Amino acid sequence: MAGAEDRVPQIEQSLSEYLGSRPSLKYVFFGGKGGVGKTVMAGATALQLARHGKRTMLASTNPVHSLSGLLDQDVYGKAVPVTGVSNLWAYEIDTKDNIERAKQDIKQKIRWFLKFAEISAQADAFVESATMNPAFEESAMFEEMVDLMFRNEYDAYVFDTAPTANARRLLGMSKVYSLWVNKMLKSREEARSLRELLSFTKKKEADPLMDYLVSFRERIGQARDLLTDKERTAFFFVTLPEALPIAVIKRFIQWFRDFGIPVGGVVVNMLIQKDQVRADSPEFVRNRVAMQDAYMKEIWRDFDGAVRAVIPLFDDEVRGVSGLARVLPYAFAGER
Ligand SMILES: Nc1ncnc2c1ncn2[C@@H]1O[C@H](COP(=O)(O)OP(=O)(O)OP(=O)(O)O)[C@@H](O)[C@H]1O
Ligand SMILES: [Mg+2]
Repeated sequence: MAGAEDRVPQIEQSLSEYLGSRPSLKYVFFGGKGGVGKTVMAGATALQLARHGKRTMLASTNPVHSLSGLLDQDVYGKAVPVTGVSNLWAYEIDTKDNIERAKQDIKQKIRWFLKFAEISAQADAFVESATMNPAFEESAMFEEMVDLMFRNEYDAYVFDTAPTANARRLLGMSKVYSLWVNKMLKSREEARSLRELLSFTKKKEADPLMDYLVSFRERIGQARDLLTDKERTAFFFVTLPEALPIAVIKRFIQWFRDFGIPVGGVVVNMLIQKDQVRADSPEFVRNRVAMQDAYMKEIWRDFDGAVRAVIPLFDDEVRGVSGLARVLPYAFAGER
């Protein structure tokens, strides 16, 4: 009798079944280690949704954008209809303007605060130190992404995210932000009441910093509501049948679960097709197949029931809409 070990592992719920079972799913994210096929999977999924009649936005939050390259169209900094595909727009989010705006905004607030605290110092030095660090760009990217989601101009959004931990930070930041903002608000309130106590006039002073923190907390709260909503949001992780990409997404999945962000499942990419390999194929190829075999066992075992698609390694890179169309029968098997 065949034991559990001998059973041929198979996909329990495919990507199309997953999407089909969640009609209100609207925000789809792809993450994973560098170079595993996040952009390709995001592109293919967006194409699939567009072909099903959903007005779809394919957006990149990876500062090293590659949608323009993939589609052979300039989509940097603006939403552009994808040539030859109805219902599909692509957009590489540009943070430059946002960072400039945020700098001006912060400068004003710091000036106000320095005046309020009766400190004589130039705001500019503070602004430079606050805005020169990479976290500031990440935060600007997060804001742009959330803005795009809130504007609600499309039926579906597919996000091609950055490979590093910053994808998780972008989303996890919402939790940290609210904790931080709450602390800030508390100390602002204390400072204000002390000041009011010490001043002769009893009238309430305007406090732009406080107003900003309150509205910021509200926005972050709304973003968290969206990002943690199982009906509307799903984060998919792309891996190769190799040690490092698997290790990366295991960590990601754990983090995302901890943050309460819905994990849609795992896509395995670049699996060498066994029917293309014979006993007399080059040793190099046979070795890689054996390596992938071992990692596929690990994948089926450890991602238990969460594998949504297995995409073969093609004999060419995936470029253009035609390249994406080649991925569809595997990504959305049983559909067309
Ligand atoms: N199944 C596949 N078969 C053959 N080539 C593939 C496959 N999937 C992706 N590629 C190619 O591999 C390269 C990496 O894919 P992609 O750009 O989608 O990865 P990524 O995870 O977005 O990378 P980055 O981390 O740099 O953003 C691209 O050249 C792409 O065309
Ligand atoms: Mg990419």
